Amino acid sequence: MRLTIGVDIGGTKVAAGVVDPGGRILDEVTHPTPGGDGEALADVVGRAVAELRERRPEGEIAAVGVGTAGFVDEERSRIVLGANLGLADEPFKDRLRRRVDLPIVVENDANAAAWAEVRFGAGRGSRHVVCVTLGTGVGGGIVMDGELKRGRYGVAAEVGHYRVVPYGRRCGCGNHGCWEQYASGRALVAEAQDLAKNDPARAARILKPAGGDIARITGPGITRAALEGDDGALECFRTVGGWVGLGLADLAAILDPECFVIGGGVSDTGDLLLEPVRRSFARHVTGRATRRLADIRIAELGSKAGIVGAADLALR
Ligand code: BGC
Ligand code: NA
Ligand code: ZN
Repeated sequence: MRLTIGVDIGGTKVAAGVVDPGGRILDEVTHPTPGGDGEALADVVGRAVAELRERRPEGEIAAVGVGTAGFVDEERSRIVLGANLGLADEPFKDRLRRRVDLPIVVENDANAAAWAEVRFGAGRGSRHVVCVTLGTGVGGGIVMDGELKRGRYGVAAEVGHYRVVPYGRRCGCGNHGCWEQYASGRALVAEAQDLAKNDPARAARILKPAGGDIARITGPGITRAALEGDDGALECFRTVGGWVGLGLADLAAILDPECFVIGGGVSDTGDLLLEPVRRSFARHVTGRATRRLADIRIAELGSKAGIVGAADLALR
């Protein structure tokens, strides 16, 4: 069997898996992401690949695909800007080549996730799909006419950095008002912290698992509170979901996809997020009274999409 290894480098963890041609993950390892150091990151990825290969028969793995947060160049080799990884102008493929003696492809993480969802997940059967991943940052992957669109220099679909608020919140990319400052997992936490600061009584249920410490509020903590019907937590989801839907409406005006697939860690919350997203999208999208509306779906491969997509792209 022709297997490949897919690696997903996110803001908090590196996840790597052995993937078969049907998109199934046969084995997986994860490690924390070392921030701001390309050599250390290549060490972690190299180690993850070696661990997985040791557990398989010799020669079974044909290639390695790496999906990483950050702008990746058109050679699928260099991380041009990885704000959430603390990296810029990073020759990542070259570093990894010194540690792994297999063909390597480096791809943007959200492009990889989009590809996986179109091949094996919620976008199956559709040739016009925009995938948006909501995690530490906001990623995007555009598949049009069945093809993954990379732009001239590799960095198309960086939807997290299109600016929804002029002069708004500062972003790690150096600009202000980027969508990911309002629509990401980090934005959900920021929303809850803001609530806790200004209305501690309404945030009581959110503050409890954080031991009352605003700085220790986490995404999973907010999600648990929302699932229990907590009003403050639900408001945070409505706010963030509202921003997500507004951004999708603008993307629909430009790209007119058949469906949007929402992935990334925040998408694990399912309807909690999806309902406000759909409502906001329907309220903002241009031509809404008479146009055909794109379907909005939760990713089927969830947080595994990056691994599966990178592994599949490794052979293309
Ligand atoms: C980065 C993207 C990435 C996304 C999700 C953004 O901040 O610019 O390259 O796809 O986060 O990780
Ligand atoms: Na992308
Ligand atoms: Zn930005």
